[in-house]
Amino acid sequence: MAVRLFEGKDHAASYLQYRVTPHEIISKIMSYMENNELYKLAVDVGCGPGKGTVLLAPYFTRVVGTDISQAMVERALAKNNPPNISYRHCPAEETPFASGEVDLVTAMTAAHWFDRPRFLQEADRILRPGGCLALLSYTMDMILEYRDISNVLNDICREVQSRS
Ligand SMILES: C[S@@+](CC[C@H](N)C(=O)[O-])C[C@H]1O[C@@H](n2cnc3c(N)ncnc32)[C@H](O)[C@@H]1O
Repeated sequence: MAVRLFEGKDHAASYLQYRVTPHEIISKIMSYMENNELYKLAVDVGCGPGKGTVLLAPYFTRVVGTDISQAMVERALAKNNPPNISYRHCPAEETPFASGEVDLVTAMTAAHWFDRPRFLQEADRILRPGGCLALLSYTMDMILEYRDISNVLNDICREVQSRS
């Protein structure tokens, strides 16, 4: 079941004012992509007011931020956004994207709120083969469960964490 703690307009305004997503972390994510072309589509799931979403704009033809909170989406839309950014109101576990059309899925300090098995299934559906899933968090103190590759996913998280 989705957690609904982010519905207030004041909450959304505070997130826009005080949240920090460093540019360096976006470069780090891009270093995991296959090559340096301009990619078509990035989806930032649980985007909040979109402070991290906009940092993806230079690398993609189109970036879509999605969030389950209408207040967050409204706040994201109301700010100054690059022209290739848009926002959608939808759950992480059920997005409006076609299968295999997405190059990068990010969740910036948001995945701990999701129904993770359903979210991972959705990310797997919308990502193209070789696409990238980037879960950002202050801690990776969470267990990922997905089909028969749970151990592989958790090993990757541990490896990335040990390198940073
Ligand atoms: C801690 S905030 C992070 C917002 C933004 N990514 C940032 O870094 O500033 C978590 C966000 O995840 C959203 N969220 C929580 N559960 C969700 C779900 N199941 N589907 C989509 N968004 C969700 C919340 O509404 C909230 O905006």
